[in-house]
Amino acid sequence: MIPEPVVRQIQDRLDIVEVIAGYLPLKRAGGHYKAVCPFHSEKTPSFMVNPTKQIFHCFGCGVGGDVISFVMKYEHLEFPEAIRLLAPKAGVEVPQGRDGPGAKPSDGAALQQAVEFAAGLFQRALHQPAGAAARAYLQRRGVTAASMEALRLGYAADSWDTLLTAGQAAGIAPAMLARAGLCVPRDGATGWYDRFRGRLMFPVWDHKGKVAGFGGRVLDESQPKYLNSPETEIYLKSRILYGLHLAAPHIREHDLVAIVEGYVDFLIPYQMGIRHLVASMGTSLTADQVHVLRRYTKRVVIVYDGDYAGELATLRGLDLLLSEGMSVRVVGLPPGEDPDSAARRVGADGFRRLLAEADDVFAYKLKLLRRRHDPATVEGKVAICGELLPTIKRVPNAPQASEYVRALADALKIREEDLRIELSRIPVKGVGDGPWRPRLAAGPPPAAATAEHLLLGIVLDDPRYWARVQTDVAADDLADAPVRAAFLQLAAQAERGPEAVAQAVQALKHGELASVVARALMECERTDDKARAMDDCIRRIRGAARRRKLLAKQAEIQAAESAGDEPQTTALIGEYNQLVKGSDSSWR
Ligand code: UTP
Ligand code: MN
Repeated sequence: MIPEPVVRQIQDRLDIVEVIAGYLPLKRAGGHYKAVCPFHSEKTPSFMVNPTKQIFHCFGCGVGGDVISFVMKYEHLEFPEAIRLLAPKAGVEVPQGRDGPGAKPSDGAALQQAVEFAAGLFQRALHQPAGAAARAYLQRRGVTAASMEALRLGYAADSWDTLLTAGQAAGIAPAMLARAGLCVPRDGATGWYDRFRGRLMFPVWDHKGKVAGFGGRVLDESQPKYLNSPETEIYLKSRILYGLHLAAPHIREHDLVAIVEGYVDFLIPYQMGIRHLVASMGTSLTADQVHVLRRYTKRVVIVYDGDYAGELATLRGLDLLLSEGMSVRVVGLPPGEDPDSAARRVGADGFRRLLAEADDVFAYKLKLLRRRHDPATVEGKVAICGELLPTIKRVPNAPQASEYVRALADALKIREEDLRIELSRIPVKGVGDGPWRPRLAAGPPPAAATAEHLLLGIVLDDPRYWARVQTDVAADDLADAPVRAAFLQLAAQAERGPEAVAQAVQALKHGELASVVARALMECERTDDKARAMDDCIRRIRGAARRRKLLAKQAEIQAAESAGDEPQTTALIGEYNQLVKGSDSSWR
């Protein structure tokens, strides 16, 4: 735990402008500084640093917070790590962590411990007699002892309770193993059983090399081939790329990352000395994964399985990489091959050559599409354009995009000007809706949310306004979940006095809610007359909440009516009238 005064000193002594300027070129703009946002891809700067409030906020992607929050996000650090990085700059001493009695590990730490324990157990089991079959399997596939060690491969015994029993002996409760996704409660009975049984175990690490979860492969042809740990607090699947912590230095060195799909597709090239790669673990890339990768390099080569190559739906995921400003090339392996088999067939140098000679994403898609549609027919031309123009639209580099238009016009034997007109008709975002789209950061929220943000900003800026909010606004009047969460945290501290509130405000700036807090403070910055703005916000928030509640109640009444439930209908109409008159709920 970092003592609160240390955090406060760091916030007080460091100037956010100075710190961020060490990472990005900042330009002065009125009372603010701006820059091209490092957290999303953009051409015109919408990333703002506010020296008076000592916060940053991006009007494009919504990310924000204080100086600690910036360093956490930019450097991908946990809070204590960010503090240790910033403390020397601020001339503050951080007391060493005490692990003595009484320093109970947090839940996250206990979970981590459980997963780490399991990794050790599996790893040892691979080299015990029970692991013989798994060792033989690995040998057959040409996996060396060094790779087993480097990737910490293991074996989960073919038993219902090996992990449970070992855990118990080591003081790790079944409930904790269950939270880690390693044990499962028995159906309709008390007790638990091991999730992974008789499987070859691949630990999956976070980007810092802490074990987060597992993939377990059967040793034969049975199904499912891989069983994976479920998502947990420490296994955030949308962020994790298999092997990243091992590959990171090599990715930096090559300024290039190869993305494969499977654990084994990572393992075999890795063993051959091709180390600038990660595995996406079978799913298509998410925006979060792309953000993580972008820290290391902007150049990506996708090495898909041969049978995947034709799947345009998956290919659309490539557009995500493009719109994040990555340069993307693709190796299309022959049907039936994956990076594992290809690397064996062509050897390390051959595999390096495959990577070097990869098609750029546009050429690759065009090649596929020409096989699928006949570019000599009008329908074919339309279909190919329909797939490729959205891709081109996502290319942030204008000369590059222009080059693609020319190539496409050439390939289809149509006029370049016609293509450019078509291209201009495509909206910038929301093109080529792939399966990944819902995971992208949400766009600007609706106007009602602005009032809520402004209200929050006013209170954060001067907590004395809290009293007014407490009496005039109910928690469930707030539609924006993060705003509501921030207010609830303040409400919880308010009873403990103004000092507690002030502390809560400081903590909010780099906690989970940092982005919403920064945005709120930015909204508030633009307001001169706080008291009047406050009245206005409260009026708008209550009005919107009332409309929401009335609508919801109407829907309930309709449902009850059409179900022919008269008593219920009457009761609901009573409630409706109550609402119209105005009712209240509280902050408790
Ligand atoms: P593959 O089927 O290509 O597996 O799935 P692989 O890694 O090449 O394994 P081998 O060569 O058959 O042993 C690619 C990835 O998809 C995920 C795993 O992460 C796998 O590595 N996957 C696949 C699952 O999660 N579950 C499955 O049942 C299959
Ligand atoms: Mn394979």
